[in-house]
Amino acid sequence: MERPDQAIGVIGAGSMAQAFVRGIIASGLVPPAGITVTNRERRDRLEALRAIGVQTVLEKTSLCAKAQVLVLAVKPKDAEEALRELAPHVGPHHLVLSLMAGIPIPFIESRLGGTVRVVRAMANTSSAVRESATAAAGGSHATGDDLREAVTLLSCLGPVLVVDEQALDAVTALAGSGPAYVYLLMESLIRAGAQAGLTEEVARSLALQTVYGAARMLIETKSHPAELRSRVTSPGGTTEAALRVLETAGFEDALVRAISRAKERSQELGAAFGEA
Ligand SMILES: NC(=O)c1ccc[n+]([C@@H]2O[C@H](COP(=O)([O-])OP(=O)(O)OC[C@H]3O[C@@H](n4cnc5c(N)ncnc54)[C@H](OP(=O)(O)O)[C@@H]3O)[C@@H](O)[C@H]2O)c1
Repeated sequence: MERPDQAIGVIGAGSMAQAFVRGIIASGLVPPAGITVTNRERRDRLEALRAIGVQTVLEKTSLCAKAQVLVLAVKPKDAEEALRELAPHVGPHHLVLSLMAGIPIPFIESRLGGTVRVVRAMANTSSAVRESATAAAGGSHATGDDLREAVTLLSCLGPVLVVDEQALDAVTALAGSGPAYVYLLMESLIRAGAQAGLTEEVARSLALQTVYGAARMLIETKSHPAELRSRVTSPGGTTEAALRVLETAGFEDALVRAISRAKERSQELGAAFGEA
């Protein structure tokens, strides 16, 4: 991190907060004692974090006094209340890193006093295994250093890209919801393998390794997917026969339409928080 002495305060102790805190500790970026977490009522979640050396508090005043980076990890429906509780304690020395899906930066800025430095990130559920596909955007008062610091912290959840905030609806549609598309693909591959005569266990193992191997091929060779696809598609072979069926069934079009609908839905949900 740019400033390793930064103390981190996390608001929320749920799945996202836990993945974030555990990722930071595993990376060695900040020691557990440099992280303070608060939530609303689930004391068991705070207890679990205390067990790994993290500090926990039951209110936001002391958390904000200790921390320079404030991480927002509450559900969007609880955002308004959490921001209202935080507002009196947030100042120019704080960097606010929002992990909340769909809450626009101007909404956060307006609730925390206008000139607060905000970075908003969209991570996905693979954060739990530190393989999230994450994108981050800086608010109107966030500096280059703020963005770099946020990216360093977010890198504990997986690779991070910096985008404009307006791109975050598309990021949500592709990467935020993305694990579900891949899980559906996996379910279908496993079912198809079983129908083709494999045991479910064998089908699962083959499907999993096939998806993992294909992703690694793309990452390591840096090839375009179309190029790798054409390499495995021999004229008159099995792959070509299968791809023809997928094309006739509109597989690609369905994915494009699904992601377009998810982006639209993200915009609809964000519009509810549109009035800064
Ligand atoms: N889960 C993911 O993989 C994922 C991926 C991308 C983005 N996100 C985003 O991350 C955020 C958190 O999601 P999650 O899955 O971690 O939710 P979660 O498991 O429901 O956790 C939410 C946490 O917020 C706390 N909370 C609610 N209101 C609060 C308040 N006023 N003050 C302090 N703490 C408060 C809750 O405390 P109590 O339990 O005590 O009520 C709970 O610890 C969401 O905005 C979501 O969009 C999550």
